[in-house]
Amino acid sequence: MNLNELIESRRDQHLGELREFLSIPSVSAKSEHKPDIERAARWVADHLKAAGFPTVEVVPTNLHPLVYAESLEAPGKPTVLLYGHYDVQPAEPLDLWTSPAFEPAVRDGNLFGRGTADDKGQVHIHMKALECLHELHGKFPVNIKVLIEGEEEVGSVSLWDYVQRNKAKLKADALIVSDTAMLGKGVPSITYGLRGLNYYQIELTGPERDLHSGVYGGAVPNPLTILAELFAKLHDKNLKVTVPGFYDDVAKVSAAERKALNALPWKFANFKKAVGAPAYDGEKGFTTVERLWVRPTLELNGVWGGYQGEGAKTVIPSKAYAKFSTRLVPGQNPAKIAKLVEKHVRKLLPKSVHCKFETLSMGKPWVAAYHGPIFRVAQAALQKGFGKKAVFIREGGSIPFVTQMHDTFKVPCVLIGFGLPDENAHAPDEHLALENYYGGIKAIAHLYEDLATL
Ligand code: BES
Ligand code: MN
Ligand code: MN
Repeated sequence: MNLNELIESRRDQHLGELREFLSIPSVSAKSEHKPDIERAARWVADHLKAAGFPTVEVVPTNLHPLVYAESLEAPGKPTVLLYGHYDVQPAEPLDLWTSPAFEPAVRDGNLFGRGTADDKGQVHIHMKALECLHELHGKFPVNIKVLIEGEEEVGSVSLWDYVQRNKAKLKADALIVSDTAMLGKGVPSITYGLRGLNYYQIELTGPERDLHSGVYGGAVPNPLTILAELFAKLHDKNLKVTVPGFYDDVAKVSAAERKALNALPWKFANFKKAVGAPAYDGEKGFTTVERLWVRPTLELNGVWGGYQGEGAKTVIPSKAYAKFSTRLVPGQNPAKIAKLVEKHVRKLLPKSVHCKFETLSMGKPWVAAYHGPIFRVAQAALQKGFGKKAVFIREGGSIPFVTQMHDTFKVPCVLIGFGLPDENAHAPDEHLALENYYGGIKAIAHLYEDLATL
């Protein structure tokens, strides 16, 4: 049996096992899921062991354990580090799922469930590709280190610590990650750029306590109204962010790169279908692809305060809150941007409210050249799995570890995504196309095999 035949013959077994992995609700944001997180880490460790890794560890951290495995039995061959995450986003709102989030179900060629695309399904693609290679050859074709963490969806804080303390152990010739998406169905893609992410929270306090809006309304500034005014001022009419200095360090995208990105087989119709908004808009002077991948943004993620229950309550709230974030692009420094944002927010606010400003997390953007033999090998592997040439794309999302690794080890980072932009990552009815799951296992098996020729 050759590699493709072996993988083909295991389709049902692979899918069955993935369903088991997905049914563990490994939500990293909620402490009630701590036992599930532990169970998922153990699950990954046990299955890596079964796939042929002689060394497998579940490493405790300050928050959630990470799983480390290695096989260094290919002398003279390259060493690669595979990264992924077994944690998932909360599944709420639960009533918007067609089938329960942690009871994986197949419909119309898609596997539905939290973590199918982001990122358990994609991690499983690597686990099964490696297992098949090991079964076929009795060993792995290259030296492999595996790091699967449980805190990606909450900012990868413990991971950074671990990397700093284990630099020698993690050293590799390349980083391989499957935690991104393809440009579209049938378009295998390699991602060479991600945006960074800074996340903020503010608390505005006006009157000492909630007030009767009839007794006091008209003479007391309302923190919620002030919050609304603040956010209305953070973009101008061209939808540029008004924070002074925000764009100062943005690296210029070359005319050639702009042209290449805009020439990709990216379809506005697909984008519209995935979003479903009545109309579209964004920073003036840029195409949608540029707005998504190479331009920085400021987004309001959540606001609350005052009364939200049933019926009416006439109240001037004492407090108003907001969570918001900036996506950053190459050239921008997260710490500098956080300072600029805080300064501007404070300047815009009237004296009638106090503001507590917190920067909850910061993360650098990443972009890298994609020339060199490893990218040719990756492209060829995708061709073997999908019968089509891979394109090189940038994406708007953030993966803290990729930046950290690139900065720490200066190695090529190969991001091969098997998700699709409309697969509802972080939302109800998250799913993964089965053709990408099965095609992914083939492509990734060929990738590891072909890396041995480098
Ligand atoms: N896998 C995503 C990142 C991603 C999605 C990259 C799509 C490219 C395309 C990852 O799990 C994620 O959701 N990251 C968070 C950041 C994190 C610090 C919470 C994000 O981008 O919001
Ligand atoms: Mn992810
Ligand atoms: Mn995610």
